[in-house]
Amino acid sequence: MAGRKIIFHPEEKTIFADEANTVLEASQKAGVSIEATCGGRGTCGKCRVSILHGQREPLTKVEENFLSAQDVEKGIALACQCRGYGDLEILVPEKENGSSRKVILETKTVPLDTDVKKEYLELEKPHIHDFRPDEKRLIDALKGKQINSLQLDVLSSIPSFLRENDFRVTAVLAGSELLAVEAGDTRNKIYGVAFDIGTTTVVGYLLDLCQGLVLGAASRTNKQSSYGADVISRIQFSDEQVNGLKCLQENVMDVANEIIQELAQQNGIDTETVYQVSVVGNTVMSHLFLGLSPAALGKSPFIQVFSSMKVIPAKNLGLKVNYHAKVIVLPNIAGYVGSDTVAALLAVGIDKNTGPAMMIDLGTNGEIALTCEGKLYTCSTAAGPAFEGAHIYQGMRATEGAIEKVRIDKTVNISVIGNAVPSGICGSGLIDGISELVKSGIINKNGRMLPQKDLDGKIPEELWHRLRMRDSGQEFVLHYSSTKQEDVVITQRDVRELQMAKAAVRAGAEILLKEAGIEAKDLNTVKLAGAFGSFVRKESILSIGLLPRVDGQIVYPVGNAAGEGAILALASEEKRQHAEYLARKATHVELSLRPDFHTAFRDACAFV
Ligand code: FES
Repeated sequence: MAGRKIIFHPEEKTIFADEANTVLEASQKAGVSIEATCGGRGTCGKCRVSILHGQREPLTKVEENFLSAQDVEKGIALACQCRGYGDLEILVPEKENGSSRKVILETKTVPLDTDVKKEYLELEKPHIHDFRPDEKRLIDALKGKQINSLQLDVLSSIPSFLRENDFRVTAVLAGSELLAVEAGDTRNKIYGVAFDIGTTTVVGYLLDLCQGLVLGAASRTNKQSSYGADVISRIQFSDEQVNGLKCLQENVMDVANEIIQELAQQNGIDTETVYQVSVVGNTVMSHLFLGLSPAALGKSPFIQVFSSMKVIPAKNLGLKVNYHAKVIVLPNIAGYVGSDTVAALLAVGIDKNTGPAMMIDLGTNGEIALTCEGKLYTCSTAAGPAFEGAHIYQGMRATEGAIEKVRIDKTVNISVIGNAVPSGICGSGLIDGISELVKSGIINKNGRMLPQKDLDGKIPEELWHRLRMRDSGQEFVLHYSSTKQEDVVITQRDVRELQMAKAAVRAGAEILLKEAGIEAKDLNTVKLAGAFGSFVRKESILSIGLLPRVDGQIVYPVGNAAGEGAILALASEEKRQHAEYLARKATHVELSLRPDFHTAFRDACAFV
């Protein structure tokens, strides 16, 4: 076998990689997932692995930047930089489990209005005076129902099904299409899965489409994360790498199929009885899910391949549900305002609100919508990955070990997800921490973390001792480690990252208010969508100035509204039509074309 042998532990996967391949490239070929936030460009330092055996090429400049002397001594390497001289054995750190924070499920029962129906049939058996073909016999039993479509494989299953089941079968119909024939009476078994495909996490919800009941939810890290944390890295990978698009589509399909399998096992159902699937996601995720190139979304004027709702047979996508199930991909609004926003708008009933209402989905892209006097405005603002804990010195996703809440008075009080030993800080912890540091005077209005000498006698001693200066700049210790792990700190650079993120969202919101001709005080509700919006303390969001100046009383977290919208659309044709209506009604405001955005952004950077 040609190439260098690389064994990846703990999955015990072996690959013979090209000499030119980095460990990261080899892992991608082997189907081993390594966190690669920057997509291998050497700017995030997140792709740490341990070399267990083998000789590596000398450290690169990037590794010298990100790795300490102790790291190098322990055999730590950056996978996107490291190449072996010969065979290597690599230990990949356990992935943070993307589902440590429970998926918030707001909807338990949903209104049903689906065209997938089942009909139990007891057919007349053939005899010497009845020569009707099986197909006609079945259609006749459906009593005048118009059947315009019947696939050959369904047709071929009919003879044995009828004869093995004493001519008692259940027909599965979607409008005028006969989707399947099942043995016996299975009228109470029609299921659907609603997906919210996030850049970081994929969430699936199982629905009983006979009762309109949400049976369960499951989530997984989007395997595409190994090719970059944000949509731009995914666009570049799909566009620049041979088979990049195919690879990303296969990755997301793998995750979707794992979720389907998990939901089916948990609820004791057969995946063959899943006849409908709905999908929402940002525009790039929707494109990649369908195997459509998002290349034109990567540069101005950010053109999509499609924006209207799509209905595709599951068999064309490789989803492991019933072969003839329908996969409904909800419509997008613009290049960076996707069907997840449309679904969230549907779920929160934004157009039913009396008075001006704003919805903000905080993520790497902050999607913002505003309705006012019958109009709907949207924009998307590049907040960057700080809210997801990326590009933050000790940032991590909201998983076990992440500091998620911070309170500072005379000392520092933290809450950690899973009550574990703190190993980093997630987006909500970062916002809380910085908000508290601003309140305590340790960070000034401009975002500068003050040195000890400026705070002598002005802050409690315990806090004063937590401030320290490193080569990389000023930092504040949130948690002192009692093991050999690093202390968890907030650095000056983290503060700057958060300032950029919050200013981008605030500026986008201010521009929409301006577009609608109203002021923040005119808003009667602000809904924070997304898991992040549910966990972050609204007092902290308001105090750092992430939102326009509104009263905290009108700010509501609405949970995973995109997932809820996907559920509604799965269960109801009327809701799907309404989603299409909202998408077409929206006036998209392209912030990159607004000269006033830069002023709004600059004004929003300060902590006032
Ligand atoms: S530094 Fe290696 S993936 Fe970012």
